[in-house]
Amino acid sequence: MTLWAGRFSDGPSDVLWRYTASDIDRRLLPWDVKGSIAHVSMLGRTGILPEAEVEVIVGGLEAIAGEAADDDFEWQDGDEDVHTAVERRLGELVGGAGGRLHTGRSRNDQIALDLRLYLSDMALDRIRQLHGAVRTLCEVAESVGETIVPSYTHLQQAQAVPLAHHLLAYAWMFLRDAQRFDDVRRRLEVSPLGANASGGSSLPLDPAVSASLLGWSEHFQNSMDAVGSRDLAAEYTFVCAQSMVHASRLAEELIQWTTTEFGWATYGDEFTTGSSALPQKKNPDIAELARGRAAGAIGQLTAVLSLQKGLPLAYNRDLQEDKVAVFGADDLLAGTLEALPALLGSAEFHPPAPSSWVCALDLAEVLVTRGVPFREAHHAVGRLVTALVESDRRLADATEADLLAADERFETADLELIDPIESVRRRVSPGGGSFESVGEQLAELRRRTG
Ligand code: ARG
Repeated sequence: MTLWAGRFSDGPSDVLWRYTASDIDRRLLPWDVKGSIAHVSMLGRTGILPEAEVEVIVGGLEAIAGEAADDDFEWQDGDEDVHTAVERRLGELVGGAGGRLHTGRSRNDQIALDLRLYLSDMALDRIRQLHGAVRTLCEVAESVGETIVPSYTHLQQAQAVPLAHHLLAYAWMFLRDAQRFDDVRRRLEVSPLGANASGGSSLPLDPAVSASLLGWSEHFQNSMDAVGSRDLAAEYTFVCAQSMVHASRLAEELIQWTTTEFGWATYGDEFTTGSSALPQKKNPDIAELARGRAAGAIGQLTAVLSLQKGLPLAYNRDLQEDKVAVFGADDLLAGTLEALPALLGSAEFHPPAPSSWVCALDLAEVLVTRGVPFREAHHAVGRLVTALVESDRRLADATEADLLAADERFETADLELIDPIESVRRRVSPGGGSFESVGEQLAELRRRTG
């Protein structure tokens, strides 16, 4: 039987049931029970229900929590949603007393609470995974030692940098994603219990008591906001989507790096797949799916925002769909944060040396140290580049005469600057692509994720 049968003479049609009943919220079961225990305990503390009855209800709810933990809670087709299932089971376990659980509460404040409780725990899980990804990046960065690669701008070789510096750029992105999850948790941990259907109650509910029983120090200030808002579901989904986008960028590079054309990396057999047709293939499917699944997370963000646009206050059934979006995005991220670091951790790096062109800026900067304005120095090296390209040579082929023809303030020893590893060794600016900076970053990233 539905929770709302009283007003109806006919039961719900199969069509209505199939279309409106929710089973995506089944995963909320343990959190739904936790919220109900806090709610009914508040009803006891405020004297709305006698303590003896509260004890019976709490006992029944704890038994349900046990069934959930052991994975033997039995769902029935007639359960409209997780809330109905719990109330039905409570009735089976404790009889008539169970009918008092919903005093001063509606499924509207209940689902708002369940979502906050669940997402707050999931955020902790994602933070743990993101910190794990940062640690994997640190380990790989450390293992590649003084391997250097070109940095790219416009996908053109730009400057020589440690490969570790390139990898650690992603560590900082994932660290910020973890900070975002931590930040959204602070806003999630505000209890909506007591908002009831939309306007509160004539019973003397005490939202501060239920909040503190949940271990939270804050409760809602406006009941309509409490049941009708889903900005936090959107915020959580955004953090998932952004983190998936970071994963997707890393995935794209992992894919490029293992092409014959790049030839930077080889991944472990156990984390790559073969082709049914082409015997030579070793495909980076994990990375390709991470890149592909970022599309799904972005789609869910669009969905959860669109869901709210144009909704009148307060609760509308549309809001049931928030779970499709936020669970969908969170599941994609959880899976990706498990698989992508595993692929990366299996990598062996063997990038070819950067071209000597990556030293062009170093030549301009040596003139700057001699008092030449940067713009003039840039033009001088530009002239050198043109002369070399015209004679089909690279920067490494430049002679003393070429340097002097470009600018008389060059010196013979400047030819030594045309060496990518030298370029990295001479790099001094903080946070730049130097081995010192990589060491500092590793220490700082480990301190922050330790
Ligand atoms: N299944 C609903 C949801 O996910 C729970 C709230 C239902 N409230 C209601 N008045 N029908 O949002």
